[in-house]
Amino acid sequence: MAFGRIPRFSPSFSPAEALSAAASLLRADAAEDAEAVAAFEGRFAELIGVPHAIMVPSARYGFYLLLQAIGVGAGDEVIIPGLTYFAIPAMVPLLGARPVFADVGLRSHVLDPEAFRAAITPRTRAVVPTHLFGTPCDMGAIQQIARENNVQVIEDCAQSTGARYKGQRVGQIGQHAYYTFGLTKNITTLSGAMVTTSDAGVAARVRAALAGAGPTPRRKLAKEVGTGLAMWAATHPALYWATVHPAVVIGNQLGRDPIHAPFGEPEVRYTTLSSSYHSKGGARAAQAKVGLSQLGRIDALNGARVRNGRKLDVALAHVPGLATPTYPEGAEPIYMSFVVNHPRRDALMAALRKRGVDTTIGYMSAFGDHPLFQEYKRDCPNASAAMRDLLHLPVHPNLTEADLDHLIEAVRSAALEVG
Ligand SMILES: Cc1ncc(COP(=O)(O)O)c(C=O)c1O
Repeated sequence: MAFGRIPRFSPSFSPAEALSAAASLLRADAAEDAEAVAAFEGRFAELIGVPHAIMVPSARYGFYLLLQAIGVGAGDEVIIPGLTYFAIPAMVPLLGARPVFADVGLRSHVLDPEAFRAAITPRTRAVVPTHLFGTPCDMGAIQQIARENNVQVIEDCAQSTGARYKGQRVGQIGQHAYYTFGLTKNITTLSGAMVTTSDAGVAARVRAALAGAGPTPRRKLAKEVGTGLAMWAATHPALYWATVHPAVVIGNQLGRDPIHAPFGEPEVRYTTLSSSYHSKGGARAAQAKVGLSQLGRIDALNGARVRNGRKLDVALAHVPGLATPTYPEGAEPIYMSFVVNHPRRDALMAALRKRGVDTTIGYMSAFGDHPLFQEYKRDCPNASAAMRDLLHLPVHPNLTEADLDHLIEAVRSAALEVG
């Protein structure tokens, strides 16, 4: 913390990792790329405890490839939580199938097993338990319902790489899973994602679908290295208070969030796969090397989030007007986000900014009644209620004890101020 200012986010990678990626980008040839990517996939599979891991350009494309590989097609249904990232339900109609939204727990924000059960029809082929905000779903109940109804389980681990449910890493519990490693995730490969599966046939079909894509363009990865270094510098305590924080305050006074607006991805309904800018490009050694380095400290990075999150859970439990998250029994969250709800959310955010704390509403959407998915309309009251007044408090691994104490005091006094 410098001058009592706390950024909403701080990256998990080091400048050394970014610079070694840049060096590898200049040097590595196709053989070195293939070797490094295979090493990263092998280490990742070992970490999660699954037989097959395959690097893909993005989680959404990985999800598409998994659906295709398990034979989802015209007339099939895929159950997706009503609170998630738009790009996931957007993949399902590309295969001629229907996304069917099922509600989440009001404060857990993750798939409600009974809502999943109620959404099953004879056409249901798969369910996507999404471990949102780093919180594992109630996988015991979900697995049982899925088994009874012959539904395949594809875990969405985009926000929970390394988290556990009853001691098992998420991604190992269902038959298949996907993860993503963009610059803002809990571990990063600059850009890129992974799918895992326990099914050798599915793994072979995913690999076959990826064959022939050229490598990710060097220029795209060089841009990620540059953006990553800029993020690291801009959120560093020595610079943040004097640069980004004033921009956030002024931007918000002018009615525009200067971080969310330029970096947020516009929500669209894809009409073809190629309209998703994530769909092409084989992984390179530069990504795999950063990934390997990050895997070496994933439990330390997640552990710092857990320490911070648990402290917030306790300290903010009884703040008037504020609802803190709940967690399914057996879930061991990694606090990718610390999400609270408050009926005067916008006023609370402004009061926190005044106290030097930047927060965000994040980039999830409620999909029970979303304009992009009108033909799949289905009541998800908890998802809609949660989205209306939700905000993310800082919980990133670079927070110090002094930051946390300042944050807790700021939330308590801001909540009193807004009433
Ligand atoms: C829960 C969730 N699922 C899926 C995705 C999609 O990941 P990608 O951008 O790699 O396609 C995201 C993106 O952050 C996400 O938060």
